[in-house]
Amino acid sequence: MLFLRGISAYFVAFLVCGVVYEPCVLAWSKEGHAMTCKIAQDLLEPEAQHSVQMLLPDYVKGDLSALCVWPDQVRHWYRYRWTSPLHFIDTPDRACNFKYQRDCHDPKGVKDMCVAGAIRNFTDQLSHYHHGTSDRRYNMTEALLFLSHFMGDIHQPMHVGFTSDEGGNTVDLRWFRHKSNLHHVWDREIILTAAADYYGKDINLLQQDIQGNLTDGIWSSDLASWRECSGISSCVNKYAAESIDLACKWGYKDVESGDTLSDDYFNSRLPIVMKRIAQGGVRLAMVLNRVFGGHSLHEDSVVPI
Ligand SMILES: *[C@@H]1O[C@H](CO)[C@@H](O)[C@H](O)[C@H]1NC(C)=O
Ligand SMILES: *[C@@H]1O[C@H](CO)[C@@H](O)[C@H](O)[C@H]1NC(C)=O
Ligand SMILES: *[C@@H]1O[C@H](CO)[C@@H](O)[C@H](O)[C@H]1NC(C)=O
Ligand SMILES: [Zn+2]
Repeated sequence: MLFLRGISAYFVAFLVCGVVYEPCVLAWSKEGHAMTCKIAQDLLEPEAQHSVQMLLPDYVKGDLSALCVWPDQVRHWYRYRWTSPLHFIDTPDRACNFKYQRDCHDPKGVKDMCVAGAIRNFTDQLSHYHHGTSDRRYNMTEALLFLSHFMGDIHQPMHVGFTSDEGGNTVDLRWFRHKSNLHHVWDREIILTAAADYYGKDINLLQQDIQGNLTDGIWSSDLASWRECSGISSCVNKYAAESIDLACKWGYKDVESGDTLSDDYFNSRLPIVMKRIAQGGVRLAMVLNRVFGGHSLHEDSVVPI
């Protein structure tokens, strides 16, 4: 009986994780996504704040961060299988750059099916909301949750990674004493180790520290430049290019399968993880303020890179 249960659990795990293209890939951990969305919601102007409240289901009581991880929870459901490639971008191994036309497609080659295309898509859908004639083809609540989630993903450097190792997912290694992989180190390990070492495991304190550094600290003079955006296409291209650049300079750098990563790696990469969470939040707020404030983010034409 126990034996059979073991097999079926294994089989379920296999079904959930093995059939789709990537094995069991999560995203920026739920902590990372929640922090990005919390930072964003605190920066919303009244109009955007109101629209977000209207779109969220009552049970979250207006808290966007409670649902920012929803796209990760549904990506393996049959109904949402199509969203699975929208969480990441595979770039050519060692190229260390991002080109929309070359890289933004799903594993079968269907164009625009990547995290950069998804942000464009859901920004575009939400921009019709303020007309009051929201397009009935689209579910605006889902568009809000997808946009909020993918804005986090595109800022996680290893979500714009190399193709052959699936953004570090197949680079097995140790994080201090336990088994992990390079993708997961950036999704979750660094955040959890920071929370444990410096914030008494309280993620809220970590998030408040990030917000303190935004309003009145190391990043306060960077805010304006982070927010700069003349059109959503060129902006997502910039965010993706920043991520693969960081992935090369800090993520993959000096790491090989089988390594043990510990203090040196943690201390040098932690500031980057924190900055990307902050940037994701500031930029999500910027996009939401514009789409719900009636200021277009459209470009006359898509800018190919
Ligand atoms: C855009 O969203 C629609 C559904 O809302 C979906 O059918 C389409 O595949 C999406 N495309 C991208 C690139 O996200
Ligand atoms: C929109 O999507 C949410 C989440 O999947 C769902 O609960 C809600 O019923 C949908 N709304 C409409 C109008 O279909
Ligand atoms: C905030 O900035 C201080 C330096 O002023 C730094 O020591 C701290 O780690 C930063 N916190 C976060 C969460 O980035
Ligand atoms: Zn994701």
